[in-house]
Amino acid sequence: MTEMKGLILSGGKGTRMRPITHTAAKQLLPVANKPILFYGIEALISAGIKEIGIIISPETGEDVKKTVGDGSRWGIKISYILQAEPKGLAHAVKTGRDFLGDSPFVMYLGDNLIKDGVAPLVERFADGKADAFILLKEVANPSAFGVAQLNGNGRILCLEEKPKEPKSNLALVGVYLFNKHIHTAIDEIQPSKRGELEITDAIQRLIDTKHPVESHILNSWWLDTGKKDDMLEANRVVLDEMTEVSNNGNVDPSTRISGRVLVGKNTVLKDCTVRGPAVIGNDCILENSYVGPFTSIGDGARVSQAEIEHSILRENCKITDFNGRIVDSLIGVNVELTRSQAKPVAYRLMLGDDSKVEVV
Ligand code: TTP
Repeated sequence: MTEMKGLILSGGKGTRMRPITHTAAKQLLPVANKPILFYGIEALISAGIKEIGIIISPETGEDVKKTVGDGSRWGIKISYILQAEPKGLAHAVKTGRDFLGDSPFVMYLGDNLIKDGVAPLVERFADGKADAFILLKEVANPSAFGVAQLNGNGRILCLEEKPKEPKSNLALVGVYLFNKHIHTAIDEIQPSKRGELEITDAIQRLIDTKHPVESHILNSWWLDTGKKDDMLEANRVVLDEMTEVSNNGNVDPSTRISGRVLVGKNTVLKDCTVRGPAVIGNDCILENSYVGPFTSIGDGARVSQAEIEHSILRENCKITDFNGRIVDSLIGVNVELTRSQAKPVAYRLMLGDDSKVEVV
């Protein structure tokens, strides 16, 4: 078999994550202070893949390129493929055709996280018995997903995109393995009612033309980070599984740290209480503050007189003299948040980059 490639989809509009996605690619949002996209790249690398193409959009493509680079930091080759408009997952595969050639490939949605990686699946696919292999997960609300119906042997009988009356509770997870036959199938389908070339239709076309499509049901977690609460859940799950503890900063004796906490380089903690699991980036200054479980604070933060819990703060935020509590929040780059009155209240926020909030 020719060498397996990776195709990561990092274009799209990210409408469900506005305003954050007005200025940032959702795939670059950090989970435990690492861009979501890196988890996908590393999953493919762990499966032995050495050549990855990343689908990018005109709006956020440059940021993605700058953040990810050419792959040399991982010792692999990464190239970029511009999709002029987000016309669907199958359209993204079509856009990647030159990069993919006739190679088999893993298609990975750049805003997805799965716990168990893809290495065992790549191995299973390599036996050549199936022309496509898809991952499924039992979900409580199948109508929100692509849904699969199986025969008893894990072979797919049919697929439906966001069905009103789902035939099973098995949703398609954002990881697919294909060989070159998918390209013919994509050439033979039409855009759906929502105007997109759907990957579910292309897989259904494979099934209809007697190509074997097999599946694996995931038992471990899978997270699709399309919305704010999904991001917070991803951050919670990844921090929950973090096993390291490290302190590379400057923590004064009056600060209490408990549980699994990472403190970055040149970070100063003064009179703080930090309860893990939590990650605090490099070059931060935190004073007189409380950082609670499931919190990620990006590099360069300034925090004083604040309580933060179950939240993601991106880089260079200033939350100063706040005298309040921030929970369940996703806060963009360079956000400034100040408050002058001391009242015991809590805020639940989703703030885009460069926001300025003054609570008085
Ligand atoms: P979606 O989350 O389905 O779409 P989206 O990113 O446009 O978000 P929203 O629905 O909030 O507007 O996309 C899944 C992944 O695939 C995501 O990483 C974006 C990527 N994608 C592309 O690269 N090209 C496309 O044409 C589409 C539809 C998605």
